[in-house]
Amino acid sequence: MAQVITDAQGVKRYLINLSVNGDTHTLMVKGNSLLVNVLREDLELTGTKKGCELGDCGSCTVLMDGKPVNSCMVLAVEAEGRAITTIEGVAPNDKLDKLQESFIDHAAIQCGYCTPGMILSGKALLTRNPHPTEEEVREAISGNLCRCTGYVNIVKAILAASEQE
Ligand code: FES
Ligand code: FES
Repeated sequence: MAQVITDAQGVKRYLINLSVNGDTHTLMVKGNSLLVNVLREDLELTGTKKGCELGDCGSCTVLMDGKPVNSCMVLAVEAEGRAITTIEGVAPNDKLDKLQESFIDHAAIQCGYCTPGMILSGKALLTRNPHPTEEEVREAISGNLCRCTGYVNIVKAILAASEQE
């Protein structure tokens, strides 16, 4: 439970412990601080992108207890006690995850803005369903918008990674 502290100006702040990529961070946040901003600005994990900030584009996708969420729709205080995974946590030890390799191999990246969110949605899918159909892949990434690729190579990349499971 977050500890509430009122500063000299009378503004309430919350002392939270945030578990991100296996590390626990103790942070002071406002009640309305969004998880996406705390990740990007306080923790400097800028792999999580910001697009619409309305919950529509999926560029801010992170995993919360293994499930994809739009981090622009989650308050930082709500994330306390949950396991958050960002794109920086996908490839420990500087070795790319096989899904990241597959995106490269299938030219599934153009500008790259959607890519972190796509990879995290794809990883969540492959964890719960190691051998998805194309339809299941398309459903899993339906909340992640890409303005560049037309999705074909992204779907191919996720299916190819699933064949290595
Ligand atoms: S920035 Fe969060 S859904 Fe678009
Ligand atoms: S590669 Fe540009 S938005 Fe997807």
